[in-house]
Amino acid sequence: MELRHYPDRVLKRKAQAIREVTDRVAEQARQMLDIMYESDGVGLAAPQVGWSRRLVTLDAEGTHEGQRVFLNPIIVRREGELEHEEGCLSLPGVHLKVPRAEKVSVVAYTLEGERVELEPEGLLSCVWQHELDHLNGLLIIDKVAPTALLAIREQLKELERDAETKDKPQSTRR
Ligand code: CO
Repeated sequence: MELRHYPDRVLKRKAQAIREVTDRVAEQARQMLDIMYESDGVGLAAPQVGWSRRLVTLDAEGTHEGQRVFLNPIIVRREGELEHEEGCLSLPGVHLKVPRAEKVSVVAYTLEGERVELEPEGLLSCVWQHELDHLNGLLIIDKVAPTALLAIREQLKELERDAETKDKPQSTRR
């Protein structure tokens, strides 16, 4: 399991709901938490590690005690407006101001199958909306005006070049 960067196509795909919490699902979630902490992220969505399922890991405080895994989350209510500069582990070096709701109501399930309702506000509300977008194949570059993308054009090109180099077969023939 490794972090996928833009323009990896798995990031554009709508992720599938998790119907059954198997040992594999729990193990994948544990690995995602490890990757999230290693990368100093506050949230990670399964498509970001190449797994197209509706699962997110979060730790708003970064304390490990606040670590949470949520399955099949949905936003049932949005309130107010807010704009924060956001980064994304799938878009290293890119920072964009993304318009969000100030407060959202989220319904999700835990690994134990318990239904939870949350009402994150402010920064945490933005984190939730950001991760939910990942489950629907959307990145922060899909949420801003085209003019905002002009400023980061070079960074995006560089990520595209990185991906090409990675995919290119290395020839050791002589
Ligand atoms: Co992200």
